[in-house]
Amino acid sequence: MVRIILSGANGKMGRVITECARGRSDCAIVAGIDLNTDTPGGFRVFPSPAACTVDADVIIDFSHPAALDALLETAAERGLPLVAATTGLDGAQIQALHDAAGKIPIFFTANMSVGVNLMRELSKTAARVLGDAFDIEIIERHHNQKIDAPSGTALMLADAVAGELAAPPQYVYDRHAQRNKRRSGEIGLHAVRGGTIVGEHDVLFAGQDEVLTISHAAYSKDIFATGALRAALFLHDKAPGLYGMSDLIDS
Ligand SMILES: NC(=O)c1ccc[n+]([C@@H]2O[C@H](COP(=O)([O-])OP(=O)(O)OC[C@H]3O[C@@H](n4cnc5c(N)ncnc54)[C@H](O)[C@@H]3O)[C@@H](O)[C@H]2O)c1
Repeated sequence: MVRIILSGANGKMGRVITECARGRSDCAIVAGIDLNTDTPGGFRVFPSPAACTVDADVIIDFSHPAALDALLETAAERGLPLVAATTGLDGAQIQALHDAAGKIPIFFTANMSVGVNLMRELSKTAARVLGDAFDIEIIERHHNQKIDAPSGTALMLADAVAGELAAPPQYVYDRHAQRNKRRSGEIGLHAVRGGTIVGEHDVLFAGQDEVLTISHAAYSKDIFATGALRAALFLHDKAPGLYGMSDLIDS
């Protein structure tokens, strides 16, 4: 039984993970961390990582970028593996994850869905074949409560595609202030926000008289929760290092 500390326990994802974990016998949430210390999950919720001294095997984080520094400090001090799923991290925080991976196992992905991670591989293949002759645009749609834009998944897809192109592309987030034709060597990233859309991503390759679109739609947050629990089970006995969804799929 893998014992999990859930950071962001009272958020939307935290509650879905709590529900998913309840139906399993291979893991259990033993404590939470959240600014909101309500206890609807039946486990104690602490206001900070340092305050949470409950014995555990792994931490899962779906909270807010502001939580990361303290979480990494506690995880490193206690030697606890960390599944880092919060998006909107800045460059310094991503570097901090890489640095901490020298001391503890860290699983980091902007998207816990197996389907999205397969989409990433398919998009890389398409970029390798079509990329330099086709215009690449990424469109994502999410619910109206999402804070960061474009989504961490859209950026993950852009980075994957960019790595396959002959020259590093320029990311263009906003075309309204420009009066220019689209240049080759750009990747356009577009964020749509509304209603309760769980998460949709399109990677569009537009060429002369043909368009290829690779699409993924998430219809419930359960896919991310299931992926995060699988990641926790995968990670809890690993050596220090940085792991991702491809490691989990390969295992
Ligand atoms: N990697 C993935 O597959 C994936 C999937 C879905 C969501 N996410 C990301 O997970 C994060 C959480 O998503 P959500 O929809 O549950 O958000 P949410 O706003 O519903 O929940 C966030 C929770 O974190 C808590 N929190 C905020 N700041 C904190 C801090 N400094 N310390 C401790 N707790 C803090 C809030 O009180 C809240 O309960 C977001 O970054 C989101 O983009 C990632």
